[in-house]
Amino acid sequence: MSFTAFRAELLSVPEDPARAGDTAIRHHADGLLVVENGLVVAFGAHADLAPRFADVPVETLPGLIVPGFVDTHIHYPQTDRIAAYGEQLLEWLDRHIFPAEAEFADRGHADTVAAFFLDELLHNGTTSALVFATVHAQSVDALFEAALARNMRIVSGKVLMDRGPETLRDSVGSGRADSEALIARWRGRGRLGYAVTPRFALTSSDEQLASAGALVAAHPEVLMHTHLAENHDEIAAVAARFPQARDYLDVYDRFGLVGPRSVFAHCIHMDDHALARMSQAGAAIAFCPTSNLFLGSGLFDLARADARGVKVGIGTDIGAGTSFSLLATLGEAYKVGQLRGASLDPFRALHLATAGGARALGLGERIGGLQPGQEADFVLLDSAATPLLARRTAGTTLRDRLFALQILGDDRAIARTYVAGRCAWSRP
Ligand code: GUN
Ligand code: ZN
Repeated sequence: MSFTAFRAELLSVPEDPARAGDTAIRHHADGLLVVENGLVVAFGAHADLAPRFADVPVETLPGLIVPGFVDTHIHYPQTDRIAAYGEQLLEWLDRHIFPAEAEFADRGHADTVAAFFLDELLHNGTTSALVFATVHAQSVDALFEAALARNMRIVSGKVLMDRGPETLRDSVGSGRADSEALIARWRGRGRLGYAVTPRFALTSSDEQLASAGALVAAHPEVLMHTHLAENHDEIAAVAARFPQARDYLDVYDRFGLVGPRSVFAHCIHMDDHALARMSQAGAAIAFCPTSNLFLGSGLFDLARADARGVKVGIGTDIGAGTSFSLLATLGEAYKVGQLRGASLDPFRALHLATAGGARALGLGERIGGLQPGQEADFVLLDSAATPLLARRTAGTTLRDRLFALQILGDDRAIARTYVAGRCAWSRP
């Protein structure tokens, strides 16, 4: 048996405070986190747990331990196109993103970017993510091999896009066969998962959308991952192509793509009927505030999604997103909330970036809350990472400290990242 224990300040928000209230918040100013073979055995007050684990070696960590962050929507092949100037969604895709993704026909390039990308996640405290690859099957192999080597919980899939630009096009047959082969090749390996990934309605034929629905139905363990209702021009183009559909969500619904394993990025421009349908189906939204602001897509309405009971996680959406840091992303989520007239509570924000995101990805039992039996992915936060953070957080309450970390923090505030109980990143 390989027990280890970490003594530190502990914080976890396994339930949604918007529903459960303050009982959702688990905080121990002097806590003990006990790990055995990569799983949490105990999370509680040091004084309560120390006698039970008297023989276990204890490492004392200076800082605040929180669960590892869960990024519910990010594109690894866009890492090198972050901060591309000028356009909104459709032009930005054509000008910056499609050329960058075409480079992933080269496996060596995919390996290099995958390694950098996963290390960047770890530097930012992100231990799990739902990731877009490219249309090339080998882009998924590159990411999964690198994630396996780091023992990270990564869900990804080959992008389906038979109506994409010529340099990035698959076919209904090759998209289906490549997806089936990847599912078979990677099933049960490490902590990896597969997501059937049609890019969005505009880049797939009706036949390919139907084939994606059949893939999801044939494989009960896979997720479905796509984009929905992000940009006005995109939505107008979808409406023109699918005049028979009630709305954008209904396009996906007609092809069997709206269900409890579906994760839709953005969902900015949705009416209550569509949100109610998402809730009824058990589908989840990835709220990506830095991307939505960067591309000028709009302001996601979290309160309206809440009112319909839709599952929500947080996504960075690199490379439209502007930071790998979920802390920084929560800061932008707060600002979007201010413009929508609802202030995002810092504990709820932490929940959305951890257990809430895990739930959105169907991983709520395994990660996100540091509950006994869950995987021991966690982050050591340093609320004195910069002189300004140190001044702002000195002598404040836990709530104010957490909020300051979200507004002022980023990768500098990540002192260490642990994956399955092992230190995977330590700030120099
Ligand atoms: N819609 C279709 N493809 C993309 C993409 O790569 N990024 C974003 N933000 N939206 C999309
Ligand atoms: Zn995206």
